[in-house]
Amino acid sequence: MASRKVCILGGTGFVGRHLANELYRRGDQVRVLTANRERHRELLIVPSLTLREVDVFDTRALEQAIAGHDVVINLIGILNERGHDGSGFHKVHVQLPRQVAESCRKLGIPRLLQMSALGAEPGRAPSYYLRSKGEGESQALMQARPDVAVTIFRPSVIFGPGDSFINRFAGLLRLVPLAFPLACHRSRYAPVFVGDVVRAFANSIDDPDTYNQRFDLCGPHIYTLREIVEYTARTAGLRRRIIGLNDLFSRLQAGIMEYLPGKPLSVDNYLSTRVDNVCGTRNGLDFFGIEPTPMEAVVPTYLGQRTARDQYPEYRRQARSGRHG
Ligand SMILES: NC(=O)c1ccc[n+]([C@@H]2O[C@H](COP(=O)([O-])OP(=O)(O)OC[C@H]3O[C@@H](n4cnc5c(N)ncnc54)[C@H](OP(=O)(O)O)[C@@H]3O)[C@@H](O)[C@H]2O)c1
Repeated sequence: MASRKVCILGGTGFVGRHLANELYRRGDQVRVLTANRERHRELLIVPSLTLREVDVFDTRALEQAIAGHDVVINLIGILNERGHDGSGFHKVHVQLPRQVAESCRKLGIPRLLQMSALGAEPGRAPSYYLRSKGEGESQALMQARPDVAVTIFRPSVIFGPGDSFINRFAGLLRLVPLAFPLACHRSRYAPVFVGDVVRAFANSIDDPDTYNQRFDLCGPHIYTLREIVEYTARTAGLRRRIIGLNDLFSRLQAGIMEYLPGKPLSVDNYLSTRVDNVCGTRNGLDFFGIEPTPMEAVVPTYLGQRTARDQYPEYRRQARSGRHG
């Protein structure tokens, strides 16, 4: 198969790094766009990967960077915005996918993959995050029509080396001795392995049956948030009692943490977390012939028994790169 030229927006993040490696393994030439090339220089060790510094919100610069590619993949997303009125989410999750799709159409780029999230729905979802992701899906599909084939991916929470879900809970558990207060502990998730997610992305590129389709992606098992946090504590070798907070205290905790540096939890996160994050009757991984990998097969390989002090460089990295819309 001829090598494809693939441009990834958000390719410096957790999913993006795994995806860039997967595409490289399959023989593709990968360009990753970043707002800060210096911060991600270590990515250049992947042969055939180029890293280009671009302000993706500048349409001219965006178009210069993506021109000539066969495929554009937009992974850019945020969990928190700088303000509190949804405009940051709108900029990143709605305006940007709309512009990327429009630019692909204008430049004759035939293929666009757009990352969304399970539960995203314009208008109806409970949080700015989920509503804006849903609106971004519709905008990407609409603007791309009829020349660009779009595929949308909607994963549950993603785990794997370098994730910010399991690793973040592990870090918090290490910092909080004995008892750990947990908001929204009854919410249900179907954690999906990053390796499975990026294979679905890569498999879809040349498959016409995936054009203009949306795929929900889930792992093989459903867990409550409490079960995931208990599992994380056990795997990290920490004895902690998990105290499930009721709705009122969950919201209160989110309201306070929203004003801490780095916004470890926000009211918008709380609202997203209140809805279950599981697939309905169809798991998109089945379509791609991918057997979902369970957490238990992977998490112990990267969640060693590290101390809180060992986590400081990771916290510093997250704080430095803590991007908000
Ligand atoms: N991880 C999960 O559990 C999960 C679950 C469902 C959906 N998703 C979605 O999957 C996508 C990737 O997630 P991830 O976990 O890989 O996220 P991540 O590690 O936080 O990476 C986010 C990427 O987006 C870029 N980015 C963020 N804000 C930006 C801005 N204002 N301007 C330009 N670039 C910006 C960052 O680029 P630079 O730092 O290079 O500028 C980074 O490469 C997101 O859309 C997310 O919503 C993730």
